[in-house]
Amino acid sequence: MSIHAPIGVYDSGLGGLSILQDLQRELPYEHFLYVADSAHLPYGERSSDYVRERALTIARFFVDRGVKAMVVACNTATTAAATLMREHFPDLILIGVEPAIKPALALTRAGNVGVLATAGTLRSASFRRLCESLAEGRRIVTVACPSWVELVEQGEAHPDMQGRVDTLIAEPIRKLLAQGVDVLVLGCTHFPFLRDRIASHVPEGISVLDTGVAVARQTRRRLAAAGLLAPEDGTVPEFSLSVLSSSGETEAISLRVSHLLRQPVRVAQLAAAYC
Ligand code: DGL
Repeated sequence: MSIHAPIGVYDSGLGGLSILQDLQRELPYEHFLYVADSAHLPYGERSSDYVRERALTIARFFVDRGVKAMVVACNTATTAAATLMREHFPDLILIGVEPAIKPALALTRAGNVGVLATAGTLRSASFRRLCESLAEGRRIVTVACPSWVELVEQGEAHPDMQGRVDTLIAEPIRKLLAQGVDVLVLGCTHFPFLRDRIASHVPEGISVLDTGVAVARQTRRRLAAAGLLAPEDGTVPEFSLSVLSSSGETEAISLRVSHLLRQPVRVAQLAAAYC
């Protein structure tokens, strides 16, 4: 395995780009290969078998491309498939993403934590186990927000979103605040892109947590432990990101990716064998 190999980053769609931004900040000398499984999203509304099948296919793609690590930048895919992926690809360095329950419980004074995530994450056995093992009498209340995923994928300007955005954002937050939560966990990687919108509905004194920075640091630790960090010799690669999608609508997706990352990015289609 070469220290110059790329790091694979994967999500059902564009949400994992929020994790990619933290990875790029933490690891500016690395190359990244991002896969958006856009033809199969939203994962949150799929069965766990479906998500597992897709996660294994994308892991196969990354292994075939010789990545040095794979970041599963998707809570839904991590909760459904991380164990299985580790079984199938025991030599692959795999870093997953889970809702920040532990830091949220450390922070709450009210003893009530709210989690915003996909239905798939919230009903998964691994999410339930995480909550049961950490709660110790505190309450963890949850709301599924499929429309937030749609909002990030399509953008506020999309005709389907006209006039709905504020209600879509406000409603799930209102439900959680009504239950006395003082910490909100963004348990889906799409949601950090809505941070400003979310903030406008969250009163002062309520914390909003995500996991991007922790995942980026964990990726650095894993690569360092394996002796696979790219040389940090002052030469930041000029072209360090490739983005692929399983959907053929690469024009529209390129526009969304460029908007979210605030830089021009051309998205190519993933080879048919992995779609
Ligand atoms: N971004 C994903 C997550 O973190 C999933 C969104 C979806 O496809 O439903 O769970």
